[in-house]
Amino acid sequence: MATEIMAAGKRGFGMGPRDEKLVPYASQRVAYWYFVIAMALFMVQMFIGLWLAISYAFTIPQGIVDVLPFGLTRAMHTNLLVLWMLLGFMGGAYYLVPEEARREIYSVKLAYIQLVAFVAVGVTALVGFAFGWTQGRPILEIPTPLDFVVVAGALLFLFNVGMTVIKGKKTAVLGMLTGGLVFLALLYVFGMPFYRNLTIDWFYWWWVVHFWVEGAWELVTAAILAFVLIKITGVNRRVVEKYLYIEAALFMFTGIAGIGHHYYWIGAPRFWLWIGGIFSAAEVLPIIAMVIDSFLTQRHSGGAITHKVVWLFAAGTAVGHLVGAGIFGFAHTLPQINYWTHGSQITVSHGHLAFFGAYALLNMAMFWYAVPRLRGISSFRGITARWGFWVMCFSMLGMGLAMSVAGILQTYIERVMGQGFMTAQAQMQFWFKITLFFGVFLIVGVGMTFWNMLTARQAPE
Ligand code: HEM
Ligand code: HEM
Ligand SMILES: [Fe+2]
Repeated sequence: MATEIMAAGKRGFGMGPRDEKLVPYASQRVAYWYFVIAMALFMVQMFIGLWLAISYAFTIPQGIVDVLPFGLTRAMHTNLLVLWMLLGFMGGAYYLVPEEARREIYSVKLAYIQLVAFVAVGVTALVGFAFGWTQGRPILEIPTPLDFVVVAGALLFLFNVGMTVIKGKKTAVLGMLTGGLVFLALLYVFGMPFYRNLTIDWFYWWWVVHFWVEGAWELVTAAILAFVLIKITGVNRRVVEKYLYIEAALFMFTGIAGIGHHYYWIGAPRFWLWIGGIFSAAEVLPIIAMVIDSFLTQRHSGGAITHKVVWLFAAGTAVGHLVGAGIFGFAHTLPQINYWTHGSQITVSHGHLAFFGAYALLNMAMFWYAVPRLRGISSFRGITARWGFWVMCFSMLGMGLAMSVAGILQTYIERVMGQGFMTAQAQMQFWFKITLFFGVFLIVGVGMTFWNMLTARQAPE
């Protein structure tokens, strides 16, 4: 072990020379830095998560709270989450676009400039939060001047990907990907102005938050998952593409009207209760289609999966999506239930399971496909990666369930019995200790898989 660590230290986490059989286009290499930075930010995000759980689980001396208040650390936790996932998606796009379009990225230089811009905004924003430089709206805290840098970065990215696609071969995967990315960038703009009427402000806040995770990101996910499945199963791309269209159409149909599940209690018209209830409940359908699609693709391959670890993460994404977004989302989406559970730890539980199951695992599936190749490795022993996978999935499930119990207690004590906030908190503390316990193992699991990814050596095929 010690020698391995030293060898990794000497080699560094760099890529090494390109193997043209594994990475056919030189410009794909830019993805590596997006991935490595995303992984690092993910780790930081989780450590801050531990602090959040500690803040709930124990009574912390005021002196420490003044330095690391919950509002500040929560903003860091969620903004890091969004930042690393966006970097992961962009890296994924830069990796797959050349292979699909059969040509190099339009401008590698722009891709690096854009990476630097995003990381600079991220660091500035996090430091700024500590000095109270924030818009105050959850998840979209970053101040307006920085928003403009984000928009500029997003435009550079779209231009770069768009030019590559226009000049290259066009495929369904690329269509879905670019569609999702344009939609993603456009939505961000709606969250930029501050509307004086709070109802209207929240109305558009949800355009970013809901339409991202239940619309644009789903399209990007469908495209990346399709790419990965085509590559590792060797199945004819027609088989995968057929489902891609169905899924995308269903996601758009249910996800767009499904936004109504956030308009129940913000002062929007009453008809949203109906629209939100019915359409958001139907959002489970495209997710089920995605699970079926993944497993059918695997069957079409005749079991000849060339890359077992990538398949584990890809299948994990499909199942995790179903559990976190599908089941835990469905559980509180009807207005009759949401009336009681709104904004409680039940919401937090769903938020964790959905983000992790759908998008953390998806990102990691892509990392697992691309990173070993970029490091010049065609085959490796993935034992640590697999252990990491199971440790992280069970830990996240444990965390999600503990948060759910805390949420049920909170809902019952505060809203059914009408008792005070602190009465409920006192009962919930134990469950945050459990959350903390699983949180530590989550970090261990993710750490194991990243370590394996960045240090694995070539093994006999
Ligand atoms: C070390 C593990 C982690 C712990 C202990 C942890 C803990 C927490 C806590 C205590 C909160 C605040 C909830 C509140 O405001 O009441 C939070 C918020 C959040 N965390 Fe984590 N977290 C961890 C990892 C993650 C990961 C891996 C993800 C995503 C993949 C994630 C996504 C979120 C999201 C989306 C929120 C905001 C939830 C909402 O607004 O309802 N966290 N986290
Ligand atoms: C991968 C997709 C999804 C992700 C990442 C996700 C994530 C989240 C997050 C982080 C929140 C908390 C927002 C906040 O209040 O700050 C939330 C709220 C909510 N989600 Fe999802 N979600 C997804 C899909 C779904 C689906 C498919 C459904 C319904 C079937 C659903 C139902 C809800 C509902 C009803 C709320 C509002 C809870 C409340 O009133 O407090 N979500 N989601
Ligand atoms: Fe939603």
